[in-house]
Amino acid sequence: MSNHSNLSDNAKTLVIVVHPNLESSRINKRLATELEQRGNVTVHRLYETYPDEKIDVAHEQALLLAHDRIVFQFPLHWYSSPSLLKKWLDEVFELGFAHGRGGDKLRGKELLVAISSGGAASMFQAGGLHNYSYSELLRPFQQTANYTGMTYRRPFVVSGIREVTDEQLEKYAVEYAEYVEGY
Ligand SMILES: Cc1cc2nc3c(=O)[nH]c(=O)nc-3n(C[C@H](O)[C@H](O)[C@H](O)COP(=O)(O)O)c2cc1C
Repeated sequence: MSNHSNLSDNAKTLVIVVHPNLESSRINKRLATELEQRGNVTVHRLYETYPDEKIDVAHEQALLLAHDRIVFQFPLHWYSSPSLLKKWLDEVFELGFAHGRGGDKLRGKELLVAISSGGAASMFQAGGLHNYSYSELLRPFQQTANYTGMTYRRPFVVSGIREVTDEQLEKYAVEYAEYVEGY
């Protein structure tokens, strides 16, 4: 897991926001608008792009090819991502693109997972209510990065969302944008 980006300063970043109801979101909506206001990254809202969940695989692969750093941003749903991201992975990271013969298209890119979680951080450890750390729960993403030759960056986590004040959320938004932009 890498804390620092090895990519150059002008690396192109694609942020895939996966929230089934972004309109009623507080955390993910704010994080996404901060990125958009800064204008340095491509923000791609998956549920809004595909309300019928029919994914245009060629379009998604072209987006991936055009960017160096890929961010998956989502609210934690049952210890994982909302289901559309799983469908997206199953279809877009296909044989010959992400793995297998000729499947080297993601090699050298970065993968950064950014999550919000209702539970407090202290619950995500052995003996806590949720027993496992965020790092443990996110292992399928980490190993997907490993297997496809991507560098897995330290995840960005906003936890205990009900205790996050508006002021703290503003700080998270700035911290997130700077991390995503590679600082
Ligand atoms: C279907 C569903 C499953 C959820 N599962 C979890 C979970 O496993 N762990 C957790 O900490 N929060 C869980 N939550 C809470 C969400 O993570 C929380 O509402 C979200 O991060 C808030 O972000 P938002 O303001 O962008 O909507 C779940 C929420 C929903 C609707």
